Amino acid sequence: MSVEPSTVSASELNRLRAEALPRGVVTATPSLVSYAKNAIIVDTEGKEFIDFAGGIGVMNVGHSHPKVIAAARAQIERFAHTSISVFGWESYIKLADRLNQKAPGPTPKRSFFVNSGAEAVENAIKIARCATGRPGIVAFTNAFHGRTNLTMGLTSKIVPYKKDFGPFPADIYRIPYAYCYRCPLHLSYPACDVECAELLRQGFENQFQADRIACVIVEPVQGEGGFIVPPPEYHARLKRICEEHGILFIADEIQTGFGRTGRFFAMEHYQVEADIMTTAKSIAAGYPLGGITGKAEVMDIPGPGSIGGTFGGNPLACEVALAVFDIMEEERLPERAQEIGRRVRERFLAMQKRFPQIGDVRGLGAMMAMELVEDPDTKQPATALTKAYRARLYENGLVNIIAGTYDNVVRTLMPLTIEWETLDRGLDIMEETLAQVTQGVG
Ligand SMILES: Cc1ncc(COP(=O)(O)O)c(C=O)c1O
Repeated sequence: MSVEPSTVSASELNRLRAEALPRGVVTATPSLVSYAKNAIIVDTEGKEFIDFAGGIGVMNVGHSHPKVIAAARAQIERFAHTSISVFGWESYIKLADRLNQKAPGPTPKRSFFVNSGAEAVENAIKIARCATGRPGIVAFTNAFHGRTNLTMGLTSKIVPYKKDFGPFPADIYRIPYAYCYRCPLHLSYPACDVECAELLRQGFENQFQADRIACVIVEPVQGEGGFIVPPPEYHARLKRICEEHGILFIADEIQTGFGRTGRFFAMEHYQVEADIMTTAKSIAAGYPLGGITGKAEVMDIPGPGSIGGTFGGNPLACEVALAVFDIMEEERLPERAQEIGRRVRERFLAMQKRFPQIGDVRGLGAMMAMELVEDPDTKQPATALTKAYRARLYENGLVNIIAGTYDNVVRTLMPLTIEWETLDRGLDIMEETLAQVTQGVG
């Protein structure tokens, strides 16, 4: 890379950090980034890391893609902000149109933009409630939808996301997700006939009144919950039950969207058209942007001026997002995600033969994970091992983040543009490092 690393001392900055930031803000690595290119991050001391985290699933087109830089530069020269409530601009409108075209399903769509994933979810719920005139929301165990008050209420995991942050909003109900490795019904696919989808219907009997439920919100593949991939029939079954009761179906594609699972949007795998879909993360290659896309008949129900915000759809982020759509298509990144996923899965399955601590290998496209357990029979989560593994991966030059209710799922969110040689090197590090931490080699 041609950029010179900055010479600032990480230990000095980390000392200042301890004084300047609250302890609730944690960082997975003690390094500070100097610059990043495609799937490599260079820290302030010149050390290179292979990036298997992608800024939590944000860098699907890689760090510092030339087209992203060009789009951002061109926009910076023109104007920073007017607010969509005051003065419109081209990239906002074109991006909405592009999302509408790309969103799964044939029904005409509308889109608008906010600043983050949580804000996109907030708005999707707001619209669903307005459109149905009902208050209730059904979400899932292991779900993650954000950290604002409403989205915290929808998020499942208590520590660290919810502990001591209540009260949470009312009228949120939770049913088990299709977590086949730890089946809530203790059944096995396919003999189970996806009975877990029926838990929604059961909820109508003893948890919530169907005609007071505005929407079901679901991640096509759960992200923070541990890369949990439901069986192929699951979402269509849920959607059918929703339709029977006039309940809107919201697909949260914030982590699964933009090619990650091997299709542009993950719901394409399930052949389900959501009433509303939320996007964020990789939509704008690191610039803050969230999108709400939905059927026109639903999205047009809230009246003029009822949705929006000062910064939503920032011109720089929208311009970059248009570049992201181009890159996705030109470089065929959803197809590339399939190939990445094939290679990672093959490697993880080979590792599973060597390490009994790998209880489950799962994923969709490049959204791959392995769940670490103390014992493959008891499936007791190997939380401490996973923490040690991640720390050692970092020491060995690979940035990785964990997921799952028990913090025992090692997930991969590398850029979909990653060079094959870098991917293989990263996977080598994963295997060598697991050998080190499981054998206590040090
Ligand atoms: C599925 C899902 N929804 C919502 C969010 C919240 O997005 P943000 O952190 O941009 O608010 C996330 C973030 O991880 C996510 O994975």
